[in-house]
Amino acid sequence: MSGDPAAVLLDLHQRISGCTVCPLARTRTHAVPGEGPHTARIMAVGEAPGEREDLTGRPFVGSAGQLLTRLLESVGLQRSDLYICNVLKCRPPGNRDPEPAEVDACAHFLDEQIALIRPDVILLLGRHAVARLLPGLPGISRLHGKRIVRGDRTYVPLYHPAAALYNAALLRTLEEDMRLVRGYLDEAEAERALAAAAAGAAEREAVAAAREQLTLF
Ligand code: URA
Repeated sequence: MSGDPAAVLLDLHQRISGCTVCPLARTRTHAVPGEGPHTARIMAVGEAPGEREDLTGRPFVGSAGQLLTRLLESVGLQRSDLYICNVLKCRPPGNRDPEPAEVDACAHFLDEQIALIRPDVILLLGRHAVARLLPGLPGISRLHGKRIVRGDRTYVPLYHPAAALYNAALLRTLEEDMRLVRGYLDEAEAERALAAAAAGAAEREAVAAAREQLTLF
C-alpha cells in the first residue's frame, strides 16, 4: 500500500489487530500493534505485550511502561515523541518468553513499521529486541548504551525497563544510558541541520549560476 503514511500506518495496525497467523491470536485479548506518530524520529522496540497491554491494546502501559515514560522524561523526551512497539504483537500466555516460531511469524510487521517510520534511532529494549534486530551480537550486558549503526539505521540496545523495576543497579545503568541516548539524538539533530544548511547553500549557488547564465544571453 502506498500513499499517505498516516493511512498506511493505520492500515498496518488494523492488519496486526486482525492477525490470526500464530496460536497467540487464540489466547490474546487484544493485539498490540504499536503507538506513536508516523513522523517519530525515535522508535522503541520491546519484547511483547504484558497483561495490561493485552487488556488495553496499547504498548508499555503497565509498570515497565511507567518507568520507560519516567526515563524518557528525565532526558527531556515525551513518550508521545516516540513510536513504541514490540517484537511480538500478542501476549505470550503468562508472559513467557517469545518462541522462535512466534518471532518469525510476527517479524514482517516490525519490519514494515521500521520501513514506514524510518526513525533516526531505534531503542532496543531488552535481549529479545536485540536478538530480533541485531542477530549474532553479544549479550545486552556488553551492548547496552552503545550506538550500533547498520546500513542507514542506528540502534541503541538498552536493558528492558521491567528488569530495572526491582534492581537499583540496573536502574542506574538505564538512567545513564538514557543520557547517552539524549546525546546521540542531539548529534543526529545537529547533523540533520548541517545537511539541510548544506543543501540550502547548494541550491542558492545553483540559482545564482542559472541567473548568471541567463544574463549572458
Ligand atoms: N514489556 C514489553 O516488552 N512490552 C510491553 O509493551 C510491555 C511490557
